[in-house]
Amino acid sequence: MIWTVILTAVVFMTLSVEHLAPEWIFYAVCIALLYMLIYIFARQFHSKIKAPQWGLIIATACVVPQMVVHPLIQALMTDEEYTGGQVMGISFMVCSATVLLILVISSLIFKKKRPKMRKKIVAGNWKMNTLPAEGVELAKNVAADRASVCECVNFIVCPPFTHLSQVVETLKGTDIKVGAQNCAAEAKGAYTGEVAASMIAALGCEYVILGHSERRQYYGETSQTLNKKMEQAYANNLVPIYCVGENLEEREAGNHFAVCKAQIEEVVFNLTEEQFRKLVIAYEPVWAIGTGKTATADQAQEIHAYIREVLRSKFGAAAEECPILYGGSCKPSNAAEIFAKADVDGGLIGGAALKAEDFLGIGKGF
Ligand code: 13P
Repeated sequence: MIWTVILTAVVFMTLSVEHLAPEWIFYAVCIALLYMLIYIFARQFHSKIKAPQWGLIIATACVVPQMVVHPLIQALMTDEEYTGGQVMGISFMVCSATVLLILVISSLIFKKKRPKMRKKIVAGNWKMNTLPAEGVELAKNVAADRASVCECVNFIVCPPFTHLSQVVETLKGTDIKVGAQNCAAEAKGAYTGEVAASMIAALGCEYVILGHSERRQYYGETSQTLNKKMEQAYANNLVPIYCVGENLEEREAGNHFAVCKAQIEEVVFNLTEEQFRKLVIAYEPVWAIGTGKTATADQAQEIHAYIREVLRSKFGAAAEECPILYGGSCKPSNAAEIFAKADVDGGLIGGAALKAEDFLGIGKGF
């Protein structure tokens, strides 16, 4: 789009030099400005616009003037002092302004329906995989092809502690963020083997996964510990990716709603609204983690909508802006269907995050 703006401006400027008419420069600047506004509005409020639709918008703004508006204006302006060039300039302006008006009006309607576009996030939880060199290689590969995915998708990678620093260094200058998979419940001191949130933040990490089902299940993490970890994360400006989810038994007994509700009430409800506004939630059906089983898109939407309802009961409208990610055997082949659901704002990816191509492929699901 930006090239269309530049190109149009250049064409008009060139013509204006040839005709030595100052009004041509005026048209060129006006049209370039209108195109720029079309671009800004479309990007801000219509981030789902894909390449073919862009083509349509540009064609409407460029071609229609010639086909429809041009002869119309020519017919209306019979006066000799109006040259063909002026008619062309005016018809371009009329058409670009119409396209802009349509975009502004639809933006207002669109904005009313969805209070604010939630962040789209694809986060990779590498778990206890990759040696430092492999992790750096993986990060490099993700960065190398990142441009193939819409920049509206926020990518986060969460490597093991041992190579956080190297991965942060590798991803410097890219928009890919780095997170840790856990942090200590205490600030510092005699806690052998623990890693403090302040240490993670000092490395340049911006996120931390907390309450992952594997930590709850194998390391006995409880809501009590998680409250302390959350406090540490916020105190060190780390954004927590707080995980909730039920196991197979709980789902089969129909307790999945109650389990997720309790995991939220016991931890998230202790946050201030300001803290909550920075939070990311991940719903992970434990029965679908690393098993190849996936919740259906409808199952995911059902529980995501429920989680948002629980959040709304405490934080009101702020709940509309909280990203809720889906985690559980998410792959490039099923991401699009799951991400299309209204309350699914991305994914927390395990196995598929270990291959750059698959990880980025999931991002293309938006
Ligand atoms: P899988 O994508 O391997 O099922 O793992 C999901 C997960 O646990 C992400 O944290």
